[in-house]
Amino acid sequence: MAQTPRNIAVFGAGYIGLVTAACLAELGHTVAVRDIQPERVRLLRAGEVPIYEPGLGELIARNAGRLAFTTDADRALADAEVAYVCVDTPPTLAGDADLSRVWSVVESLKSAPHLLAVVVKSTVPVGTGARVRNVLNEAGLRHVGYVSNPEFTAEGRAVDDFLHPDRVVIGGADPQAVRLVADLHEGVEGPIETMDVASAEMAKLASNAMLMTRISFVNEIAVLCELTGADVEVVAKAVGLDHRIGAHFLQAGIGWGGSCFPKDSEALKQLASNTGHHPQLLNAVIEVNNLQKRRAIQKLKDALGSLDGAQVALLGMTFKPGTDDMREAPSTVLAARLLAEGAKVRTWDPLAEPAAGAEPWASTIRCGSPLEALSGADGAIVATAWPQLLEVPWAEAREVMARPVVFDGRNLLDPAAMRALGFTYMGVGRP
Ligand code: UGA
Repeated sequence: MAQTPRNIAVFGAGYIGLVTAACLAELGHTVAVRDIQPERVRLLRAGEVPIYEPGLGELIARNAGRLAFTTDADRALADAEVAYVCVDTPPTLAGDADLSRVWSVVESLKSAPHLLAVVVKSTVPVGTGARVRNVLNEAGLRHVGYVSNPEFTAEGRAVDDFLHPDRVVIGGADPQAVRLVADLHEGVEGPIETMDVASAEMAKLASNAMLMTRISFVNEIAVLCELTGADVEVVAKAVGLDHRIGAHFLQAGIGWGGSCFPKDSEALKQLASNTGHHPQLLNAVIEVNNLQKRRAIQKLKDALGSLDGAQVALLGMTFKPGTDDMREAPSTVLAARLLAEGAKVRTWDPLAEPAAGAEPWASTIRCGSPLEALSGADGAIVATAWPQLLEVPWAEAREVMARPVVFDGRNLLDPAAMRALGFTYMGVGRP
């Protein structure tokens, strides 16, 4: 329990806002969450959690007495000493981060009666903090400290990442505000790194860029493995055992997606070009990622001769297992390309719920089980590493498929076992 419980307003009840609010409440603070979507607020007030995130529902229920949900910004700010900005910053058509939601929150902060600090958790371009600071100054809020506190939580393990982080980054020029936000984290198990605002903003983008770089790197090595007969799975393990390198984010596959990496890579690219810098490495990281999906389709096409008229089972739709999030999922690109090649696509996913009528999904056939998706299929693609796919009765699947061809885009299945069952099995970078 925090030594000094604070009153906090959290703007945005999405993944980041809800996890932040629930964890701050768990630490003993009183939190008012404001979201502009009335339906979302209604669900939360009724005790329902509108997103899938393990442990979040329990946390919200356990701390219900310290959590309130509202659509009214003034109400959320009535007692707030600290305001967290946790709204999304989606990419614009030009690739920049769209900050309109951030600015609209900042606008509503101007009338807050007790505010001491504004904390931006949303991922924003470097330099945004300085602009927010100016707006607050012009509104006569010089006493309100500005703090950049980027989040490093991954979907599916966000609650644990918040409460047991590798580090908490707090950027700010006002020592009192920095101390205040650091103190809010009392009870969090992880080191606190304080720095200037621009460095905190950059630390966030650079961390994600490093993770994407590792994935694209291993995916490029996977291509070389295919050309030389090496196995990327054993190579990555051997490489990752070097403690200077580490084992994480070396899983080869059809590439990275999600609500963060694609958006942040574009934002960083944009940031570079706005300053006249050509980000060679970052461009290559993005290009390798795009190529992985082309290569996946090409492999299946080569194995089947043609995709025109073929029935293809697409197993997994979310951008990774353990989440219902389909934003920028590699599967979306695969489905669209398969359809463009004339294939009929049968999909399975345990959690994905694409919006009604949204393409490419509206043109695919949704199935209730992997086996159903595989029935009559000429080929299958594993697009998300759902553990349920390990439980598929593959011997039975072999019988119901028209042609037993599997492209395992996540290197999830056992190649030898699949081949022993009579499958034509292809993985990424493994013989
Ligand atoms: C990522 C970062 O991991 C978080 O630290 C960060 O806070 C978050 O973005 C964010 O900026 O909000 P997340 O997008 O939830 O988190 O998902 P990851 O687990 O990082 O996976 C991203 C993508 O990379 C997925 O499509 C996954 O399948 C792929 N991936 C991951 C690989 O292809 N190989 C790997 O070895 C690891």
